[in-house]
Amino acid sequence: MMSIANKNFRDFNSAEFINCFLKTRRETIQMLKTFQNVLGSELRVPNLPELNLPIWEFCHVGWFYERWISRNERRVFDRECDSAVDWNAFCAENTYFERADTLFDSSQIHHDARWKCTLPTYQQTLNYLESTSEDIVREFETKPPQTKQDFYFFKLSLAHEMMHLEAFKMTAQRLKFEIPGLKQKFFNYDSKSEKNFLPFSEQIISPFYEGYEFHFDNEIHNQAVTIKPFKIQASCVTLGDFLEFLLSDDFLDPRFWSIKGQKWLAVNFHKNSFYKDLKKKFLAFKNIKQDFVEISWFANKEKMALNLPALHISYFEAEAYAKWFGMRLPTEFEWLVASHSKSFYWGSVWEWTADSFYAFPTFVPHPYKDYSKPWFDGNHMILKGASFASCEDFRNIHFRNFYTPNRNDIFSGFRIACSL
Ligand SMILES: [Fe+2]
Repeated sequence: MMSIANKNFRDFNSAEFINCFLKTRRETIQMLKTFQNVLGSELRVPNLPELNLPIWEFCHVGWFYERWISRNERRVFDRECDSAVDWNAFCAENTYFERADTLFDSSQIHHDARWKCTLPTYQQTLNYLESTSEDIVREFETKPPQTKQDFYFFKLSLAHEMMHLEAFKMTAQRLKFEIPGLKQKFFNYDSKSEKNFLPFSEQIISPFYEGYEFHFDNEIHNQAVTIKPFKIQASCVTLGDFLEFLLSDDFLDPRFWSIKGQKWLAVNFHKNSFYKDLKKKFLAFKNIKQDFVEISWFANKEKMALNLPALHISYFEAEAYAKWFGMRLPTEFEWLVASHSKSFYWGSVWEWTADSFYAFPTFVPHPYKDYSKPWFDGNHMILKGASFASCEDFRNIHFRNFYTPNRNDIFSGFRIACSL
């Protein structure tokens, strides 16, 4: 299979990297200011499993660059020969904040403990983000990366910041406040609402695209894989499509739900589903007399056009819809094959796949050991694509995102597929 790849941070040269880094950091600092305006000086939020404490999370973003760039005495990574390196042995002790490793290393300090720490103030956090930004630019300019091995930690840290930026947007949505300009990106999506399917014949693919200058550890795959013939929807399931299922009597029929899905439906749907109010409000899809529905999203009620992609969908809802339709979710490799087609539209919402997050056969963890390995636990499902809230320079068809199937605070949707 020909492998096409969209340009993004993975292949940036020095000038592109610095531009993207500065743009991303400006956005992070703006995000911190927005959070402070809404949440007050300490930025406290309730301790919920899907939320992070904002001051902790902003500092963690800065700390990550310190850990892997400013303090890293071996700032080169070659995945061919560096798998046995003890990276902690090459990490200088000096940190901007005292005891920073015991506070901001996500591997050392677990979710609930973050609420019990004494954290920096808003102003200290702002200063920290500005100071680490200057450090990184200085480090970059003093010893400019020449090879992909030199670039590895810079690109890893930038990707990490971009991922947390999307997480901040999820937090805002969950806590019902606005990020200026963000929603419009979703409403601007040119929806292709027809249920159009693209057929693919059997093919042998390499799921690993070696052409990139940067890879996450979980993407590296050294074998060819046979993909059996299938067809897949050209665009995501729309809100209107999903509501047809949601508002039908079939929605509560256990035949369409997996065992875990039935449990989620019984326990969580009425509490947590993005669609719980619509299910109460409309008894049938035909009762919706207009081409939109009103849903609370971020701070306000929004008129959501029925031809927009369905979003804030849990894996269980996606899986049940696919079964109701007589199909299934695509595998991650089917999605990858289809994404090479010009008629395949992606990028408005993350898309659940049928696959749980697993290690490819020759998986070896990269220096940031907890990026992938702890999550190969069978409890996380793979999502492909990107969302309207993802950083432009992050989007990539080879990226494997993963979340637990109950999560619907992410900007998630899906499309359906079947074998031929
Ligand atoms: Fe992180």
